[in-house]
Amino acid sequence: MGTPSSTTVSVEKRETWSSSTGFILAAIGSAVGLGNIWRFPGVAYESGGGAFIVPYLVALLTAGIPILFLDYAIGHRYRAAAPLAYRRMAKRTEGLGWFQIMISFVIATYYAAVIAWSCSYFIYSFNLKWGEDTRGFFLGEHLKVGDPEISTSIVGTVALPLVLVWVAVLVVIALGVTKGVQAVNVIFIPLLFVAFAGLVLRALTLPGAADGLNAFFTPDWSALTDLNVWIAAYAQIFFSLSIAFGIMVTYASYQRRKANMTSSGLVVAFANSSFEILAGIGVFATLGFMAQQQSVAIADMKDLTGPTLSFVTFPAVINQMPGGNIFGVVFFGALIMAGFTSIISILLGVAASVQEKFGLSQRGSAILVAAACAIPSVLLFSTTSGLLALDTVDQWANNVGIVISAIVMTVLVVWVLRRSRVLARHLSTVSTFKVGRVWTVLIGFVAPVFLIIMLVQKVISLINDGYEELPQWYLNVFGWGTIVFVVVAAAILTAIPWKGRDDETFTPWPPIEEESR
Ligand code: ALA
Repeated sequence: MGTPSSTTVSVEKRETWSSSTGFILAAIGSAVGLGNIWRFPGVAYESGGGAFIVPYLVALLTAGIPILFLDYAIGHRYRAAAPLAYRRMAKRTEGLGWFQIMISFVIATYYAAVIAWSCSYFIYSFNLKWGEDTRGFFLGEHLKVGDPEISTSIVGTVALPLVLVWVAVLVVIALGVTKGVQAVNVIFIPLLFVAFAGLVLRALTLPGAADGLNAFFTPDWSALTDLNVWIAAYAQIFFSLSIAFGIMVTYASYQRRKANMTSSGLVVAFANSSFEILAGIGVFATLGFMAQQQSVAIADMKDLTGPTLSFVTFPAVINQMPGGNIFGVVFFGALIMAGFTSIISILLGVAASVQEKFGLSQRGSAILVAAACAIPSVLLFSTTSGLLALDTVDQWANNVGIVISAIVMTVLVVWVLRRSRVLARHLSTVSTFKVGRVWTVLIGFVAPVFLIIMLVQKVISLINDGYEELPQWYLNVFGWGTIVFVVVAAAILTAIPWKGRDDETFTPWPPIEEESR
């Protein structure tokens, strides 16, 4: 082994997806998650209904797909999870990788809690355990929601399934990319699509479905003048496509050398948005049925947004449906599959980063990371204040954390390191769908400008108006505290000396000269 020249490809052994279909299924599995079923319908409804499609598509085309390609390019070219991939691009940018990974860490802690609720509701569906007062059951009996406080009182019925979710995540991550993550996706994703198609077809045949679709699609054009609606669209796209928080960098790093990156990206983005809109149709067709049963207008119904849509309103609809328990089992089963295939992608990014930095074994880092995530997850989100904490952390992690990450990432790559050309050439060399100047303008100009304007507006509104009338001290701890935690943890992890394999000989593939202009 001689000294590598600029055209030598290092012979590092890295596990790969076993085929491009394996990668596409895993990437769709990561993208299609709670964000599509549990988050999107409510966000779209409160953000202008049919009119939301405009900012949604603008966000998808100007930032979603371009940044997805950027994540892919960095992961595939530098063949590592985010911190090492950034470090390989330029040593001083390792911190951005850790910032993204810490956002993933935070998201995983509450994401698992929602999967755990879904597991309980899957079982409750068999005998409609929630009874007639679904709101009282979810908040009072299931979560035992208390005041906004830092509660130490753990609710056993939430904590137990949550621990089981973490054990399942640990097992899959420890099994590795092909035997663990890919195997789960190959089974769950086709099953999820069949289950969801069944749900939507059933929903569309319910009486009143058309009223629900009208409520969902009737555009409130005035919403387009509200900057918060645009912020919601961008945040939804980032969360939903799993971009700008390190996941897709990691997934792309396990791609084979000759992988058609951009075409896979288009398939993933199209599948994700189709699923999201399908979920909106299914959920609102079902709500139309409930509105008709109760002779109320959909606009007058409560709990159509936020975390309660799936766990309060849906059980109430299921109560009224003939064969509702089957619908419930399939709906919550779909939520579990969608959520699980996403959380394993989130955790894989964190575990691979820790493994690479500290030179650990795959199993060792899986155990360490799953435990480090599971402990705060259980202590914070299975207590009586878990729901409020979850909603607050989700608001800050997505609308502030991921947006900061996307801005820093695009500005750094395009303007500071000036790598957009190298990365565009990299993508075009390996892919059939070529990227060039348009892509560079989108990631270097359009996306960061939009995102900076929106971030400033969001931060001003969070400072001036607070959130959901929660006390300021609470927002400081769970909202701003989330961002402070991510920054401090990222700084500490960056400062720790690199203990993983010596990286001096790394050469990116394909053999395009690193700095050629
Ligand atoms: N992309 C994942 C979701 O939509 C995180 O839930």
